[in-house]
Amino acid sequence: MTPLIKHFTLAPPGGGNLPAFSGGSHIIVVMRGAGRVHRNPYSLLSAPRELERYEIGVRRMEESRGGSHFMHDTVRVGTRLEIAHPVNLFGLDKIARKHVLIAGGIGITPCLAHLEDLHAGTVPYELHYSVRSPEHAAFLERLQRLAGDLLRLYYDSEGQALDAGTLLTTQPLGTHVYVCGPAGMIKHVIATAKSAGWPDSHIHWEQFSAPPAGDAFEAFLARSKLRVHVPPDRSLLESIEAAGVEVPYLCRGGVCGFCRTRVLELDGELIHNDHFLSDADKARGQSIMPCVSRARCTSLVLDL
Ligand code: FES
Repeated sequence: MTPLIKHFTLAPPGGGNLPAFSGGSHIIVVMRGAGRVHRNPYSLLSAPRELERYEIGVRRMEESRGGSHFMHDTVRVGTRLEIAHPVNLFGLDKIARKHVLIAGGIGITPCLAHLEDLHAGTVPYELHYSVRSPEHAAFLERLQRLAGDLLRLYYDSEGQALDAGTLLTTQPLGTHVYVCGPAGMIKHVIATAKSAGWPDSHIHWEQFSAPPAGDAFEAFLARSKLRVHVPPDRSLLESIEAAGVEVPYLCRGGVCGFCRTRVLELDGELIHNDHFLSDADKARGQSIMPCVSRARCTSLVLDL
């Protein structure tokens, strides 16, 4: 689609329909590479009413731990992939009087599925899409077809920038805002909305963090009586799974809270990279989200 984004269509090998989903849903794609397994979340961008296939967009991450490179370099037409059932952590609010969608770069993917629903509905909406330059504007034709005049484009290369302050102070009561894109953009939109008096319930955002690399450390799983080594380039969750212990998850990106794990003992510090725990929870140090967070410690004992 662009120098950085590839578009994939996934269909069941035996034909038929895939499970139903709603706009804003993501799937986990399981990638079995040489020597390790990646499980990455990707938003579904196809129309929720068309279930013979799912579509995803994958951005090649420069700092990739392997997942996006696997999708870009190894996956070919006909490759078999395992995926998990769709989960929606970024759905449209059902009683909103208007929707304002703001996307940056690859953050446009969940908005595409939202647009399929909004296009057929009666609730007013507008879409603001910001990219580095015209060649990075993925899915532009589809966006123009679905949103028409309701699409506003911003090219960094031409000095165009979204004025979140004006946008968010001129919306009618009952409007909900949805933002997906780079961390800085999400932070700015949330802060602007809050300072303009928007209630938290009307501000929606999605940002799957890739687990950052860090120092190697050891964790002890108290109930399983297993010692787990966590190498620098593997997440705590991946290391626990590699040891044969299952941890529930939905997003693997620090958003959903499903992987929350109790910390029983710690000699050192937790490095929280999630967007789920409150600052107070993080300071207490009694829980960790192993999908994205790590520890710098000599001893970490988990309730697993
Ligand atoms: S799996 Fe969602 S926060 Fe860890």
